[in-house]
Amino acid sequence: MARICVVGSLNMDLNVETPRVPSLGETVIGDGFYTTPGGKGANQAVAAAKLGAEVVMIGCVGDDEYGAQLTEGLARAGVDTSHLRVTPCAATGIALVMLSEHDNCIIVSPGANALLTLQDISDLESVIAASDMLVVQLETPLETVRRAMELARAHGIQVLLNPAPAVVLSEDFLALADILVPNESECLILAGLSADPADGLERVEEAMRALVQMASEDGMPRVSSHKVVVTLGGDGLMYNDGAVVIHKSAWQVPVVDTTAAGDSFTGALAVYLANGATFEDAVDFAVAVSALTVTRKGAQESLPTLEEVLDFIEKHHNSNREPS
Ligand code: RIB
Repeated sequence: MARICVVGSLNMDLNVETPRVPSLGETVIGDGFYTTPGGKGANQAVAAAKLGAEVVMIGCVGDDEYGAQLTEGLARAGVDTSHLRVTPCAATGIALVMLSEHDNCIIVSPGANALLTLQDISDLESVIAASDMLVVQLETPLETVRRAMELARAHGIQVLLNPAPAVVLSEDFLALADILVPNESECLILAGLSADPADGLERVEEAMRALVQMASEDGMPRVSSHKVVVTLGGDGLMYNDGAVVIHKSAWQVPVVDTTAAGDSFTGALAVYLANGATFEDAVDFAVAVSALTVTRKGAQESLPTLEEVLDFIEKHHNSNREPS
């Protein structure tokens, strides 16, 4: 069984459905409101656990009701929560999620996530070293992500970095990752390219190539080209197999809520790769997992079990998917 260590965020998602996203200074009357457990780190941990991996999570929550609920939710999904720190100094992180037109926009208030420290990570070196794969994102302080990646590399542990939300990162930071999984806009930001819708996917391909180059060290690629995967939402994904860019289409499914689609993809990719699958098989499986995720509401609540994914693949494969 794959052992995954996730270092990252836990948020309570405060969701509101709205016919449209308001402009600055405007008030819009929305529809339903509900809270759901989220946070990119916690979502990825739950995704991996539900797919059968042994998962341990390192993170920080506040000493409050949301923190307790998030921790219980992780534990129910089978995630080892014994290394989560509870701080009295900040409230648990929250995310304001506006759901509109089958898409979302999110504002995160990190709260306790911002209080994860270098010492927390260093103290848990043995936990990272005991895993097959480290999974990190960018919702905890950058120095904690870097320290976790450095420790993983020192112990020969594979590192999967989901650089979300995107910030400009140094080349040596990127070079600490073995596998990079940005979405389209994150890929452009990381590569320092502006988004130009007129350029379409060619622009993203250019950014992906730049990213591979940036993650090189002394001219030697540290993130090999076939290990940068760019998720494209309804347009599927692309990755570079070393020679040519491979494009995979998304599954055609009724979209209910895209929250955590990228997290489900990341968690699934980590599990399959840690289990020794080929990169293409891992990507194909992760695409199916994210397709099933967007057919359901919420973040962690929408994440499928391995049985559900296998059933979904059996029922829908070939009949419901456009050719890649
Ligand atoms: O990736 C989705 C997640 O981003 C949400 O659950 C929200 O908490 C934010 O972290």
